[in-house]
Amino acid sequence: MLTIALSKGRILDDTLPLLAAAGIEPTENPDKSRKLIIPTTLDDVRLLIVRATDVPTYVEHGAADLGVAGKDVLMEYGGQGLYEPLDLRIARCKLMTAGKVGAPEPKGRLRVATKFVNVAKRYYAEQGRQVDIIKLYGSMELAPLVGLADKIIDVVDTGNTLRANGLEAQELIATISSRLIVNKASMKMQHGRIQALIDTLRDAVEARHPR
Ligand code: ATP
Ligand code: PRP
Repeated sequence: MLTIALSKGRILDDTLPLLAAAGIEPTENPDKSRKLIIPTTLDDVRLLIVRATDVPTYVEHGAADLGVAGKDVLMEYGGQGLYEPLDLRIARCKLMTAGKVGAPEPKGRLRVATKFVNVAKRYYAEQGRQVDIIKLYGSMELAPLVGLADKIIDVVDTGNTLRANGLEAQELIATISSRLIVNKASMKMQHGRIQALIDTLRDAVEARHPR
C-alpha cells in the first residue's frame, strides 16, 4: 500500500490533476466526504486528509509514504527526516515580512507576529537583529493594526489581504511552492514504485505548469 498525505483546499485541488496523470483518482470527493482515509482507483494507493502543517509529521514518521506540503511549511518544520524530490509548482506564493504602510522602523526590539516562528527566528538571527516573536495561528494581518506587533511574516500571493488591511509587503524571505515529500524508509523499501510515480508526476508538472 502507498499512502499519500494531502491537505484540503488549494493543495488537494492542484495535486489531484497531477495524481490523475499517474492513474490515481479518489473514489469519493475528498472535499465532500467526512472520511480522512480516501481510497483511490488504484487498489494499493490511498489518500490521507490532514492539516497542511501536519503533512511533514505524517510523512517523517512513516504514517504516510508520500505527501504534498508548501515550502513554507517545510521550512518551518525543519529537520533532515524527509526527501523532497519534486517541486510540484502549485500553490505558488511568497513568504514575506509586512508592516503598516508608511510606518517607521521601531527604535527598540522589533515585535514580529507569525505562525512561522522558526523561520522568523532564523531570518532575524541571520541579520543579527534582536526580535520578539509572537506566535499566532492565523489572521496575522490583524496584529500590526491593533498594536500587537510591528510586523508580520506570512505568505503573500496577490497582495489583496495586505492591501485590504493597510499593510505593505516589505522583505522577501523565500519564494514558495508545494513539494512532493517522501519518507526516507519508504524510498528505500519501495524504491521502484515511488521513483516511477515521481517520474510520472515530473512529466505531469512539466505539462501543466511549464517554467
Ligand atoms: P491550515 O488550514 O492547516 O492552517 P493553511 O491555511 O496554511 O493551513 P492552505 O491555505 O491550504 O493551508 O495553504 C496550503 C499551502 O498553500 C501553504 O502552506 C502555502 O504554501 C500555500 N498558500 C497559502 N496561501 C496561499 C495563497 N494565498 N496563494 C497561493 N498559495 C498559498
Ligand atoms: C493566505 C495567507 C494570506 C493570504 C495571502 O491565507 O495567510 O492571508 O492567503 O493571499 P493574497 O496575497 O492573495 O491575499 P488563506 O489561505 O487563509 O486565505 P485564502 O484561502 O483566502 O488565500
